[in-house]
Amino acid sequence: MKRRSERGVAPPPPLGEGLAAQASPGGAGDPPGGSPRPRRSWPSWLFRTLILHLFIIYVSIPFLIRLFPALLAKFVFLNIVAFPFVDFGKPELLLNHTVNFYLTTEPEVTIGVWHVLPGSRGIEAQGKDHSWYEESLADNNPVIIYLHGNGGNRASGHRVSLMKVMSGAGFHILALDYRGYGDSSGYPSETGFTTDVLYLYDWVKARSGNSRVLFWGHSLGSGVATNVARKLLEEKGIQVDLIILESSFTNIREAAAHIPITRIYRKFPGFEYLILDSMALGDIFFHNDENVKVLSSPLLILHSEDDPVLPMHLGRKLAEIALHSYANKDKVKFVAFPEKLGLAHENICSDPELPDIVKDFLKNIK
Ligand SMILES: *[C@@H]1O[C@H](CO)[C@@H](O)[C@H](O)[C@H]1NC(C)=O
Repeated sequence: MKRRSERGVAPPPPLGEGLAAQASPGGAGDPPGGSPRPRRSWPSWLFRTLILHLFIIYVSIPFLIRLFPALLAKFVFLNIVAFPFVDFGKPELLLNHTVNFYLTTEPEVTIGVWHVLPGSRGIEAQGKDHSWYEESLADNNPVIIYLHGNGGNRASGHRVSLMKVMSGAGFHILALDYRGYGDSSGYPSETGFTTDVLYLYDWVKARSGNSRVLFWGHSLGSGVATNVARKLLEEKGIQVDLIILESSFTNIREAAAHIPITRIYRKFPGFEYLILDSMALGDIFFHNDENVKVLSSPLLILHSEDDPVLPMHLGRKLAEIALHSYANKDKVKFVAFPEKLGLAHENICSDPELPDIVKDFLKNIK
């Protein structure tokens, strides 16, 4: 502090002058020296007011978050980003051989789900009703329960792309919108997501016979995947056949410290106390790191080196934690997608090798 005051040689200009001077382009046409300094003009006043307001907002947000941690949930879940607007009842506009249906997971909560068939069954599926689709789950093709990340809904482009790719590779996909997303009712919460997915899992298992059922969690959905898998193991002794975590993280606190949106606050005094610690106050944990220490399901962790949202070291760290605690190390696999592929946070599905990576792992863990 002392040093800074020593350096401040010139007294600060009277309020407004500095900005006003900047606002006038001191171009070549200006007469040298003599011209009077421009007076406070309303654009400069507006500019200063704007900066002042932005500053007040910037400073207030961390305190508001600490006082009202529920606010943080809005940022974490981003379910208000309700794009794209689609008719969920007409999945055929986006996907072939797909049906839409609803499950009531709690008295006040109904969730929307799409069932995409393996592409190989597309032709025979034509004109078939819902009960035929339900019965198809027992056809021995593996079933993916797809757990999406925050923002958007099950019709978002990168999610539909993944469904197409994995359907083409011979998988069933059940893609839900958690409570509060898409056309599902209710409000988002971490425990609520677990309830929704547990319900869907039981619904699938009641129909899937000997087909293997796996969780595929992307981004925030990776946290949902391990939460549910852990609950199934601890409360029912059920081991999920395979868990795939794409663009994942260790826990929400550590994720929040690395995502781009918090960058402007990383140097803010009290960042950890005001923002990161507020996650727990808002009942948001998603501790993948603690969950994988308990799990024993085969775990395939996929991450792109150039992920700009959740840096790859978070996914790698999660894999290392799992490797450390799993008795059978062959059950944990980490796959890094090279930077040169440019797959970023959402496009691992566009790597043509993805289906084989999944199938090979599934084969080896049988
Ligand atoms: C459905 O499959 C047909 C034939 O492969 C293809 O031309 C069409 O684009 C697909 N529709 C959608 C919505 O993907």
